[in-house]
Amino acid sequence: MEVIDSVKELKKRVSDFRKENKKIGLVPTMGALHNGHASLVRKSTDENDVTIVSVFVNPTQFNDKNDLEKYPRTLDADCRLLESLGATLVFAPSVDEIYPEPDTRSFSYPPTDSVMEGAFRPGHFNGVCQIVSKLFMFVEPDNAYFGEKDFQQIAVIKAMVYDYRKKDTDWAKRLNIRPCPIVREDDGLALSSRNTLLTEEERSIAPYIYSVLSESVDYSRTHSVEETKNMVVEKINKKEGLKVQYYEIVNADTLQTVSSWDEAEHIQGCITVFCGDTPIRLIDNINYI
Ligand code: PAF
Repeated sequence: MEVIDSVKELKKRVSDFRKENKKIGLVPTMGALHNGHASLVRKSTDENDVTIVSVFVNPTQFNDKNDLEKYPRTLDADCRLLESLGATLVFAPSVDEIYPEPDTRSFSYPPTDSVMEGAFRPGHFNGVCQIVSKLFMFVEPDNAYFGEKDFQQIAVIKAMVYDYRKKDTDWAKRLNIRPCPIVREDDGLALSSRNTLLTEEERSIAPYIYSVLSESVDYSRTHSVEETKNMVVEKINKKEGLKVQYYEIVNADTLQTVSSWDEAEHIQGCITVFCGDTPIRLIDNINYI
């Protein structure tokens, strides 16, 4: 497995792979890899000849400087894991390599990017689109893999790719976005790089989020959308150490809130919860229909 940090070298390797007619899978990550990432890499190695994994903590998607500084960075361990999973190449650039000058491009796909995470983290999805579009331009992958824990992020990236496709962009026409299911700990907590920041006590209460979400699926069969939403928020807020930032029950395709269970073919509940005193911001989601 090669580890490279230069865009020029990355493009050269990609062009070699293309000459050899290799199918390319891309797994964009911010490192601090866990089993959730491993599942994306495994899917990519199953479906492609070559798997490129990017490891880059993208500063433009953090609207909180402290959050960016705290973000775990574990490149050596990440590379060991990626090697054992059969990744072909790791791209781990510096910030200057990706942004030799400030990226002034602005991306906007309302309403997908303006609700939930978009409303609570202004500029977050603009930063995600900046880095992900750069990676797509550099690698021109056949398939790109994203975890469904970041449910809204997948919808925004799909909207961005659709927009590039409309502009007749070759890389966008080739690309398939491949969402992959959330991977959970045995106690239900969704795997996240941020979990390593939880204290022992916070870690012990965090699984309650998924336990209430799961309970709400049964509850939803005999209760309205509003009652189900209130049940989730009230129960989680009653647990000491947890505070819901938002819980929205939305049309899984448009991310717009629904008011009845027959309003959309697929309905998802998306939650963000603050855990502990620090606090650590945890996100999760569940499918109702
Ligand atoms: O989901 C993430 O880890 C990041 O948002 C991504 C897609 C790697 C872009 O930095």
